[in-house]
Amino acid sequence: MKVITTIREMQFEINRQKNQSISIGFVPTMGFLHEGHLTLIKKARKENDVVVLSIFVNPLQFGPGEDYDSYPRDFERDRALAESGQVDFVFFPSVEEMYPSSPSIKITALNRTDVLCGKSRPGHFNGVATVLTKLFNIVRPHRAYFGLKDAQQVAVVDGLIKDFNFPIELRPVDIIREQDGLAKSSRNVNLLPEERIQAPVLFNSLQTAKMSIESGERNTQNIISIVSKMITMETNGLIDYVEVYSYPQLKPLERLSGTVIVAIAVKFSRVRLIDNLIIEIDEGILE
Ligand code: PAJ
Repeated sequence: MKVITTIREMQFEINRQKNQSISIGFVPTMGFLHEGHLTLIKKARKENDVVVLSIFVNPLQFGPGEDYDSYPRDFERDRALAESGQVDFVFFPSVEEMYPSSPSIKITALNRTDVLCGKSRPGHFNGVATVLTKLFNIVRPHRAYFGLKDAQQVAVVDGLIKDFNFPIELRPVDIIREQDGLAKSSRNVNLLPEERIQAPVLFNSLQTAKMSIESGERNTQNIISIVSKMITMETNGLIDYVEVYSYPQLKPLERLSGTVIVAIAVKFSRVRLIDNLIIEIDEGILE
């Protein structure tokens, strides 16, 4: 495994690989790796000759007052985990390397960003789309791996790849969870002990919504209310949003039908957690 910190060297290595008609799988991350990231790496490993992992806490996607400074970082630990996942190249640039001067072009994510995290974190997906455009151009992968934990991000990346004609296959991966249901996240280390105990309620509330949908509930407001009540009653967290949309279009629905996402964001004292459930509603069987 090779660790690369400059864009020039990364591009040099990629050119070398491309000359050998080798397929490249890319896993972009902000590091502090956990099993969610490792699952993306595993999938990339299985499907490609070469696996590139990027580790870059992208300042552009954090708003003022968000957790850019307290975002957990531990490169040595990440390096060992990447090595055990048989990653070929770790791209680990500095902020100065990625953003050496003020930009002359600005990328704005227009679609699928007026709801959920796009709404509560203005500019967030512009930052994500900008860094991914740069990373896609540097790594030029055949396939890129993204977790459905960030389902809106997957929807935005789908738009980015299509709009800018990146010859990249988007490979979404299911959410990986702790044993108690909490979605794995680098940010979970910033939960206070009592918040960590409460945090699985997010998943439980989504499971309750799922059961309710499976027994025939189709009213969006009723689903939102079931989930919100559970989170309010069983945690000290503050609900940022509980919303239901079509997926991946992220359009509002009065009644549930087709592929639907129930998505939640909850603010705890030092960390904001997100989770979601994507469910296919098969009217034929359920009604
Ligand atoms: P980060 O939060 O580090 O996540 C990197 C990738 O891992 C994302 O695709 C995310 O959805 C996936 N992931 C995180 N937790 C997961 C889980 N529990 N199960 C499955 N997948 C999980 O997302 C980002 O970084 C950044 O926005 C990035 C795309 C790197 C751009 O800066």
